[in-house]
Amino acid sequence: MNQFQHRNGIMHAEDVSLPDIAAAVGTPVYVYSASAVAEQYRRLSEGLSGLDHLICYALKANSNQALLKLLAGMGAGFDAVSGGEIARVLAAGAPGDRIVFSGVGKTRMEMRDALLAGVRQFNVESEPELELLNEVALSMGTRAPVAVRINPDVDPKTHRKISTGKSENKFGIPLERARNVYETASAMDGIRIAGLDLHIGSQLTSLAPLERAYRKAADLVAVLRSDGFQIDRIDLGGGLGIAYDRNLPGPPTIEQWCDLIGRETDKLNCEIVIEPGRLLVGGAGILLASILYLKRGHDRRFLVIDAAMNDLLRPSMYDAHHEVLTVRDASDAESAILDVVGPICESGDTLAVQRSMQLPAAGDLVAIMSAGAYSSAMASEYNSRPLVPEVLVSGNRFAVVRERNDIGKMIARDRIPNWL
Ligand code: LLP
Repeated sequence: MNQFQHRNGIMHAEDVSLPDIAAAVGTPVYVYSASAVAEQYRRLSEGLSGLDHLICYALKANSNQALLKLLAGMGAGFDAVSGGEIARVLAAGAPGDRIVFSGVGKTRMEMRDALLAGVRQFNVESEPELELLNEVALSMGTRAPVAVRINPDVDPKTHRKISTGKSENKFGIPLERARNVYETASAMDGIRIAGLDLHIGSQLTSLAPLERAYRKAADLVAVLRSDGFQIDRIDLGGGLGIAYDRNLPGPPTIEQWCDLIGRETDKLNCEIVIEPGRLLVGGAGILLASILYLKRGHDRRFLVIDAAMNDLLRPSMYDAHHEVLTVRDASDAESAILDVVGPICESGDTLAVQRSMQLPAAGDLVAIMSAGAYSSAMASEYNSRPLVPEVLVSGNRFAVVRERNDIGKMIARDRIPNWL
């Protein structure tokens, strides 16, 4: 079901018209659909219902407290990658033992806070990290539950900046050293072996690389067990992509991913953890913006809008495609090829390139689609543009779930030394 649809010529988020939100909150603004998030979670949960499992939402995709609360209420766990993310999960009321703690650069302080929070497991990515974790846990008189993140050397066939499963990537421990690491870990008094972990990349559009990686992991579980280690849990990471471009074939469905997980882990007798981020929230959000100008270049036409690369970095950073739709159905309007650009002073500030769309008018609203994941989460204040608000819609209700920042607060954070 698509929660962002035109009704009587006006795009709605669930039952709320987008112009109503723009009038109340201003633009640019992120708009999220609660039922879209819930529906994705439910599909995953149903798909895995035959397995002992925990769906750990990777909150780096979107860490708004309202979304965390919504997912926590549905029983989700969380994949956190910083002390800040752990604090966010706890603040949303979820218990620490529903958190898996990932990331290649955990600090001593983050380890301590995670142990105090009682996280479910640390996904350990290197030998020195394991040593430090052991030291921190011992100093606190406890044992840290550990899953070793392996690097299966599988090409996930995605954008190079979000590929994590190949041997040249900084993530995980090479398969050939995994047995050694478990050996070392098992001799440490501050470590308890909890399982095995992997994550090969993001926005995957085929299941084949996941299948290869899961097989390698399952084979390793068998070897580790024959070595005498207790492996009760396997964390398969996240990564399944969403459809950004209606003109391209879509990625595999949630149900197909769940079937694959069921098949590949069938005989392992392990608790299954997955860490989806984008899949849960990506399609559930849009960035709503106003058209400032229709500008003619030498041979191009530009739609200058009030949202920019600081609000949505993905097109500049990954050449990502996001559909741009007019909020007022403009199907009777003349169509044109346009570049959709923001006000920021660099040519990389382009949200859509050479897009064929109905020609809107200045003052009209546009919806940049599939902007629920890695969008507000990656926003910056570049060009001294305050972070934009976020709105959550549920049925015919909506609420501001993050306020617009203001320039006064931004300036007040800076300090002028007394020698200036
Ligand atoms: N687990 C780990 C250890 C991860 O590093 C990630 C994402 C996930 C889970 C969630 O992956 P997902 O299910 O969302 O694909 N900023 C990029 C995406 C970066 C992904 C980083 N890691 C983008 O906008 O496409």
